[in-house]
Amino acid sequence: PAPGWTVEADVVVIGSGIAGLTVALRHVELDPVARVLVVTKDVLSAGSTRWAQGGIAAVLDPEDTPDEHLRDTLVAGVGLCDEEAVRVLVTEGPDALKRLMSHGAEFDRDTDGELQLTREGGHHRNRIVHAGGDATGAEVQRALAEAVLAEPRIEVIEHALALDLLLDAEGHACGVTLHVMGEGARDGVGAVRAGAVVLASGGMGQVYAATTNPVVSTGDGVALALRAGAVVRDIEFVQFHPTVLWLGEGSTGQQPLVSEAVRGEGAVLIDATGERFMQGVHELADLAPRDVVAKAIMRQMARTGADHVYLDATHFGEEKWRSRFPTILAVCREHGIDPVTEPIPVAPAAHYASGGVRTDLYGRTSVPGLYACGEVACTGVHGANRLASNSLLEGLVYGERIAADLAAKKLTPREPAPADERPEGLVDPRTRPRIQSHMSRGAGVLRSDRSLAQVARALSDARWTPVAVEPCTESWEATNLLTVASALVAAAAVREETRGSHWREDHPDRDDAHWRAHIDIALTAEGL
Ligand code: SIN
Repeated sequence: PAPGWTVEADVVVIGSGIAGLTVALRHVELDPVARVLVVTKDVLSAGSTRWAQGGIAAVLDPEDTPDEHLRDTLVAGVGLCDEEAVRVLVTEGPDALKRLMSHGAEFDRDTDGELQLTREGGHHRNRIVHAGGDATGAEVQRALAEAVLAEPRIEVIEHALALDLLLDAEGHACGVTLHVMGEGARDGVGAVRAGAVVLASGGMGQVYAATTNPVVSTGDGVALALRAGAVVRDIEFVQFHPTVLWLGEGSTGQQPLVSEAVRGEGAVLIDATGERFMQGVHELADLAPRDVVAKAIMRQMARTGADHVYLDATHFGEEKWRSRFPTILAVCREHGIDPVTEPIPVAPAAHYASGGVRTDLYGRTSVPGLYACGEVACTGVHGANRLASNSLLEGLVYGERIAADLAAKKLTPREPAPADERPEGLVDPRTRPRIQSHMSRGAGVLRSDRSLAQVARALSDARWTPVAVEPCTESWEATNLLTVASALVAAAAVREETRGSHWREDHPDRDDAHWRAHIDIALTAEGL
């Protein structure tokens, strides 16, 4: 549909989590006249950031070094990280974190006032700062949202789903079309004209039936980027978090996370007989990188015929549970489990997209003027498996880098060229649960050529639902889910090896000779 209204900004940021709000705040700091528009699909704080429990990894302990953080990140990424991108992350991380604190984010401190540092899977040092015990994301989101709302040069439009990228006559990104719900004069389809577009729209966990991601994580940014012709990289690497509260057979939607920090503080995984099973699997045992732990849990479940295992932290006692993990304690109790006296039932669920829209070291994608950061992006720091608590850090560091690049360019709104008609129709919202269940069954933790072919067939059937579909948030979301699911399945079928979070039953070994390489995907007139 043709836009019914237009707004202008020097830069438009799509998404309001740690990455998007960092770009906005840093940009107005570095460019004293810039005007930034942040558009967000739901309310300002609805995205994934506020759900983050564990924390932010950064080298702050005098005994720790950026080289050690780099090494742990590269090992977790199983040969596919971009070492230069990781070096940027670990060296610029501590200063970016300090700037976040200058916006008012408060992290937990010991009695001497020093930041408390904990550990999570894959880290050889205590380097993770946290807030409110296990409510780090909520504190980060609170502080950034307050700072943004107090800044007159940043405007926010809520309930605004970004649809398609606008390009000028030179093929430079110069805005987006939006579908806005119930925002007065700006209701319906409108357009933003800008000098550059930043995608910070988060992940795609909702492509699966069970995920730690909120309902808004429907891969909108990756789908928009694909439609705009941008290159998407490593999309087959979806991380399954090993310890998600198991709510019973067939439970779907957003599932409660039980942070790795619980294992960082000494909890251990056990099976139904009370046996530990991570010892001997990896030198870090229960604190091995996330892909190793998720696979060990799946194997233990297959061996014992169970659909979950347990996380035992009964030795913490009530006081430590209350002070260190109050959110997890409350959620477990809400579901009738008391972690003070009994082990917590857990199983892996989809958690994080390690791949995404390919960028360089300044967040620049393959489309001029289009930037990406946070979970939607593939900056190269995660490789085949993200290291715990590197995601909030990535949003901060690369968000700041994008702001620096934008500020150096002194951007003003550009004139869009007439856009081509959108080639495909909208997908029926009722397709969403079908996509999710096919993806979980055939393209989840465990995949094979056969299972992926079955999912690909089901997705291709879903594309041609023979009903008239009304344009609304739900139908755009279903359309985006189908686009990203199809891209993910195509990449997963091509990668005939097992590496990081990509586990192929029919190719169980890592194959460095052929597959120490990235899979780049772009949408052409012929499809993926
Ligand atoms: C967790 O707290 O276990 C999640 C941390 C992360 O995903 O990095």
